[in-house]
Amino acid sequence: MKIIYYGHACFGVEIKEINLLFDPFISPNSLASNIAINEIKADYVFVSHGHEDHMTDAIAIAKNNDAIIVSNFEIINWFKAKGIEKGHPMNIGGSWKFDFGKVTFFNALHSSNMPDGSTGGNPGSFIVETDEACFYFAGDTGLFCDMKLLAEFKKIDFAMLPIGDNFTMGIDDAILAADFINCKKIIGMHYDTFPYIVIDKKIALEKFNNALKELILLNIGASLTL
Ligand code: NI
Ligand code: MN
Repeated sequence: MKIIYYGHACFGVEIKEINLLFDPFISPNSLASNIAINEIKADYVFVSHGHEDHMTDAIAIAKNNDAIIVSNFEIINWFKAKGIEKGHPMNIGGSWKFDFGKVTFFNALHSSNMPDGSTGGNPGSFIVETDEACFYFAGDTGLFCDMKLLAEFKKIDFAMLPIGDNFTMGIDDAILAADFINCKKIIGMHYDTFPYIVIDKKIALEKFNNALKELILLNIGASLTL
């Protein structure tokens, strides 16, 4: 499974030639100016919630690739009204078997208005289970106790967790979240993009290391195989 970081909370995940894309926010992100959105391949575009910094490029990339957008019911309806017919609506606690694996739409403790102020339903996260690995894309969230359910019912190999603080969990709570979900391999996201979420990466890495966990901070445009 190949993971590519496109900055902020946006990742591409390649599973046996099927391309998933999570929370596309690239063209307004000055830190991601090295990424050309027209070159991004996506069969599925996942949107965790309605905030702009998670979906600005979703329509353009979905159109370029004739991709299916996967999100909550309200967000899929919002995209439909914008002319995106290929949507897969989900809601909290639901699972669906796609051609690449099984996806569960899980809680996130956050908010979810659309950029035009209309409702974006409830914010969510995605657990993706495939033949190769199981991962948790937490979206924007604070720490919450139900994350412990994931450790009870899933074997999570790695997780993308927000670490930038202020709008989401910070480093210390992300370490607790890693404990809650019983996963030692964490890919950091939602940091450095805006002044409120600038972190000291050296301290973040040290803290995870001291907690006997691995924090992976990818350069924008870099990829890794897990
Ligand atoms: Ni948000
Ligand atoms: Mn956000």
